[in-house]
Amino acid sequence: MALKDFAKTVSEKIKLKERAIAGRVGDKIPYTAINGVFDDWTDKNICWWTNGFFGGMMWQLYGATREEIFKQRAEGIEKKLDRNFLDYYGMDHDSGFKWLTTAHANNLLTGNKESLNRFLLAAANLAGRYNPIGFIRAWNDDSGNNAGWSIIDCLMNLPLLYLASETSGDPRFKVIAMHQADTAIKHFIREDGSARHIVILDPNTGYFVDEPGGQGFGRGSVWTRGQSWALYGFTTSYLHTKEARYLDTAILCADYFVEHIPSNGRIPVDFKQPATPDYTDSCAAAIASSGFLLLARTLRESGKKKTLAEKYEAAAEKMLCYLVEMDSDWNPDTDNILKSCTAAYHDKDHEYPIIYGDYYLIEAIFRITGEETYLS
Ligand code: GLY
Repeated sequence: MALKDFAKTVSEKIKLKERAIAGRVGDKIPYTAINGVFDDWTDKNICWWTNGFFGGMMWQLYGATREEIFKQRAEGIEKKLDRNFLDYYGMDHDSGFKWLTTAHANNLLTGNKESLNRFLLAAANLAGRYNPIGFIRAWNDDSGNNAGWSIIDCLMNLPLLYLASETSGDPRFKVIAMHQADTAIKHFIREDGSARHIVILDPNTGYFVDEPGGQGFGRGSVWTRGQSWALYGFTTSYLHTKEARYLDTAILCADYFVEHIPSNGRIPVDFKQPATPDYTDSCAAAIASSGFLLLARTLRESGKKKTLAEKYEAAAEKMLCYLVEMDSDWNPDTDNILKSCTAAYHDKDHEYPIIYGDYYLIEAIFRITGEETYLS
């Protein structure tokens, strides 16, 4: 089946399932599903980095269908996240994941001015995490011990800054985003195109200090989700700046990923993990698929590198076929789609539903069908 026809069929399954979920889920903010039932992070941790994704799914569905139920679910989550703004320690570099998918989506689709306000507040807070020595600090702690920690995932939060500059006419946000993207090129991307997850910089000088293992297998390994964030995130930096170095780096990271996709399309947690235990992360596959499709579209629109675009579309197709046919639950009575996501290689639990896997799967499928609301 051609990719577009395949995606149209999957899109219908997504709508059927998400309609049923939106009708029964109430105002939950889910992270995972236990026996097919969403959990709820409203009181568990309102600041958790994944709390925007279900709202983002609902906005994607609203954008595609204009059905009111999806809008209601998304608006409820966006309002609940206001509590996060009042928690200093809960405001970390992951603001993009939380407010691009909620407030920005709302403003884009409905012109809601309260949402625009939230989106600018989130961007201003993210800009405030910038250390002028040249990087955005990832997380908070009381001791200041992680003051020099920066992580590859941050690339996905940068569109909050680019969009804030485009919306407000104030270049500060974009300048900060580009410093972070340049630091990522310098310190995170190895010569072979693989990405480090965490880099520790000296917060006073900006010099490279260390590369701890992060969520992949270990020091020097290649965490697949980090590689997905890299190839996707450099593409968005290119789209907002048109600076060739970001597109070149996106291609370098994408090529590393393509060369390591197993023949069956099942993506491991780490490209350098041992043969056993052979944990998989369907989230990484979904994110990479969406990123590959964006990169391919970017290359096609630039009128150049058509062969590369075809290579990335083929990679996305292979992974999406695996996800849809081998790792998805299409029963409308259960809450999750993907079944085998893994937050980190050395965690106690592996291969269970995680909400951002479903978000990026939907985004990728809608990107192919032309139903996507573009949020980066
Ligand atoms: N952004 C954190 C993660 O990918 O797990």
